[in-house]
Amino acid sequence: MNIVIMGPPGVGKGTQSHAVTDSKGVVHISTGDILRMGIRSGSELGRKVYDIMTAGDLVSDDLMMELVKDRLSQDDVKDGWLLDGFPRTYVQADGLIGMLDEIGQKIDAVLVLQAPAEEIVRRLEGRITCRSCNEVANLTGFAAVQPRFCPFCGAKEDPKRPGKPALYQRADDKEDTIRHRLEVFRKRTLPAAWRLEERYPLYEIDGLGTPEEVGARIASVLG
Ligand code: AP5
Ligand code: MG
Repeated sequence: MNIVIMGPPGVGKGTQSHAVTDSKGVVHISTGDILRMGIRSGSELGRKVYDIMTAGDLVSDDLMMELVKDRLSQDDVKDGWLLDGFPRTYVQADGLIGMLDEIGQKIDAVLVLQAPAEEIVRRLEGRITCRSCNEVANLTGFAAVQPRFCPFCGAKEDPKRPGKPALYQRADDKEDTIRHRLEVFRKRTLPAAWRLEERYPLYEIDGLGTPEEVGARIASVLG
């Protein structure tokens, strides 16, 4: 099964992706995670995208197309994938359709998660991410825990940089930047969803409620 998960920043794409990859046995490909890994490792890719991501703007279509084409050609994704954070522009959506047509693949479901802006700001301002396992959680409930450790994998330190805490808040999770990312989503990413809808089944999913409630809505459309 090939799935695309879309929606505004902070709506819960990463959270739901982890549940879907577990239940459907597909490989999670998050373009945001790949770029952040590049930044952490100090690679050339990371140096190119750092300022753009911190400002909440989009990385160039050329670079993203190349990155996804390369990832989709790898062996581990041949039995199914879930793309999270790609496509993000009309050009990327069109490019993905062309890429899949060329290799005889299709998308079984495009999931578009939805939530109001105020809920998104609230979720992102409280988000913590684990440098070790990449899971995300909310700061509420963890603030008083010392030393902080990942509630999912138990890591206390960044495995690549001992001494640095495993849990961190993303640089683009500041209120001004979150609102800018929401604007970028409305202007540049919604047209990508419309382009995919011309070719594949698209499902709008209510992103409000507990992660389990949202997950049940997704499970009901994926079957
Ligand atoms: P990316 O990493 O894709 O970020 P994003 O789309 O902005 O979305 P987020 O990861 O912030 O949110 P999410 O929807 O995954 O929510 P999460 O599950 O974490 O992209 C980052 C940047 O990379 C872009 O701005 C751009 O610069 C660049 N980039 C990436 N791909 C690109 C592309 N294709 N083209 C160009 N540039 C690209 O949840 C958020 C919080 O809410 C967490 O704390 C979570 O615990 C909580 N939460 C989740 N679900 C619920 C719920 N149901 N109820 C309450 N809380 C919840
Ligand atoms: Mg995410």
